[in-house]
Amino acid sequence: MTARKIIIDTDPGQDDAVAILLALASPDEIEVLGITAVAGNVPLPLTQKNARIVCELAGKPQTRVFAGCAAPIARPLVTAEHVHGKTGLDGPQLPDPTMPLQDGHAVDFIIETLRAEPAGSVTLCPLGPLTNIAVALTRAPDIAPRIREIVLMGGAYFEVGNITPAAEFNIYVDPEAADIVFRSGVPLVVMPLDVTHKALTTRPRIEAFRALGTAPGRMVAEWTDFFERFDKEKYGSDGAPLHDPCVIAWLIRPDLFQGRHINVMIETKGDFTLGMTVADWWRVTDRAPNAMFMREIDADGFYRLLTERIGRL
Ligand code: RIB
Ligand code: CA
Repeated sequence: MTARKIIIDTDPGQDDAVAILLALASPDEIEVLGITAVAGNVPLPLTQKNARIVCELAGKPQTRVFAGCAAPIARPLVTAEHVHGKTGLDGPQLPDPTMPLQDGHAVDFIIETLRAEPAGSVTLCPLGPLTNIAVALTRAPDIAPRIREIVLMGGAYFEVGNITPAAEFNIYVDPEAADIVFRSGVPLVVMPLDVTHKALTTRPRIEAFRALGTAPGRMVAEWTDFFERFDKEKYGSDGAPLHDPCVIAWLIRPDLFQGRHINVMIETKGDFTLGMTVADWWRVTDRAPNAMFMREIDADGFYRLLTERIGRL
């Protein structure tokens, strides 16, 4: 099997960091062409720095990391330090990266890569707000038919919102960008809160990372020790959802997930529902399906995969 070529678009974020580690630990299945940072959990100067920290932790300092958009298309940036901490990777102490940030803008890298690679061979994996992806699609409409799939973390339906009562963070931060992506016609696979909230970091799962006895294993355990406090307090759950690694796990083991191919539209006007993913799960409209919207996960299988792959680094 040839490795799937991907671009990871990300706003690290502890869960983004685990997703990046999973991808870099799986070269047989995944070829990371580059990582593009976007403002989201924390501002862009931190997300681009954190992406490089994670690549070095994975022992892959040759990975190309680009800085992208520092703010949403049409509204001020909303960040999530209350969840991820001031640095975005709070928990363990980490050295500053020494690997370089690539010259050039992330959006240009996305456009140039999609034009250079064979049509239908590159998958985009957004793990944060969709600003970079939407700007690339708007600036270069010719790339849309060249994208194999967009496999993204974002949205919520049955689980409702995590940043407002109606909206999930990644979509809420830049709903105009999300609207562009969901109307693009590019095949979408969506990992909403409906599925990520079923992938909780229970204590035994975190201890399995720590028991790897490696720096990456220790970092993942310490990130989740920090990251989970917010969700445990808010939801009273016995762990936190590891959202973003669901995107990468699907590329490796799609059998771990189940969902429905349905229509999903983005609310960009609602006073109380801005950023809501209006998922027609029960097919009550005649709107054409545009997304594979996931709802079930084999959580034990997911954590077995994560632990085994992080253990390879
Ligand atoms: O709502 C969860 C999403 O928002 C995750 O991608 C997390 O990293 C934050 O970006
Ligand atoms: Ca993220």
